[in-house]
Amino acid sequence: MSVLEIRNVTKAFSTTRAVDDFNLTVGDGELVCLLGPSGSGKSTLLRMIGGFETPTSGLISIDGDDVTRVPPERRPTGMVFQSHALWTHMNVFKNLAFGLKLRRLPEAEIKRKVEAVLDLVGLGGYGTRMTTQLSGGQQQRVALARSLVLEPKILLLDEPFASLDQHLRERLREEVRDIQQRLKITTLFVTHGQDEALALADRIVVMRDGRTEQIARPDVVYREPETPFVAGFIGTMNLIEGAVLGGKFDHVGFAVPLPVSDGPATLAVRPEALEIVPAPDSAAKIHRVTDYGTHAVVDIDLPDGVRLKAMTPDARLWQAGQPVALKPRAFAAYRDNALLHRSN
Ligand SMILES: Nc1ncnc2c1ncn2[C@@H]1O[C@H](COP(=O)(O)OP(=O)(O)O)[C@@H](O)[C@H]1O
Ligand SMILES: [Mg+2]
Repeated sequence: MSVLEIRNVTKAFSTTRAVDDFNLTVGDGELVCLLGPSGSGKSTLLRMIGGFETPTSGLISIDGDDVTRVPPERRPTGMVFQSHALWTHMNVFKNLAFGLKLRRLPEAEIKRKVEAVLDLVGLGGYGTRMTTQLSGGQQQRVALARSLVLEPKILLLDEPFASLDQHLRERLREEVRDIQQRLKITTLFVTHGQDEALALADRIVVMRDGRTEQIARPDVVYREPETPFVAGFIGTMNLIEGAVLGGKFDHVGFAVPLPVSDGPATLAVRPEALEIVPAPDSAAKIHRVTDYGTHAVVDIDLPDGVRLKAMTPDARLWQAGQPVALKPRAFAAYRDNALLHRSN
């Protein structure tokens, strides 16, 4: 049973509020991703949970124990950073055994634990290798193993695979998910990659300027973004600025019924929800058709230069220059950074 609670946590660096009145509970065995652009406060928050930074105000507790001011080595947390910082003068075994030796465990138990965790991360038999003889992916596996071998209650990962290539990153994140589910370890995973968050998380926290924009399951964040920021940050989204007048949203070349009060609005439509139909009189024109084999993406220009994307099953039906009418099958409308209306 390991529950992490973050209550009203703020971290100010002189005039910047890196983290601003943040609240989150991570449940036992849950994997939560902190997702947000660079500078949104993800690392600062994680470092406060790991004890490497002290909150300006607020409370962090693990299983009900207040750890807000407990130093890192006395917290039941394990942290993996983007740059692994392994000890290069020690072999893999010694890197992993170090923390256990500090805990004065018997040699035989240390050996057993280190070998088990090396198997867990797919590095069985690598104990005698020097860390400098390992690939980047293997080094990150050792870094993960070094955290796991101490059996933390809470695992903290700060963009652990950001320096690796796409293919390896995808494989390692699947391995992390498998290991996390096998150990049922409560985990916070920081990433600025939406794919990574969608693939890994039980829940995603979308962060912006040190605050939470939305906390929800991945499918909900994708399908029901609560703010235009979340809508634009996760997946590909057409965001169209316009005005509502008499129950109709209007933007030159694009209009749709919208039963809300008059005023400005931002319309958000996924490419897969934007239907296009040939319309000789339309001011919206196809700019480019890209055939991906499984589907095609059609770029459409509105007269004022706004470019939209529509996904269609068949590239051959469309060509550049063709005027089309735009019919969103599902969309959301926002005003003042809040949801105004959703049509599905
Ligand atoms: N030690 C520090 N001193 C001053 N400002 C900092 C420090 N650490 C982070 N910041 C600032 O806090 C904000 C959040 O940074 P960070 O937590 O690293 O974001 P992220 O991990 O989401 O990229 C940024 O504006 C950053 O410049
Ligand atoms: Mg960071």
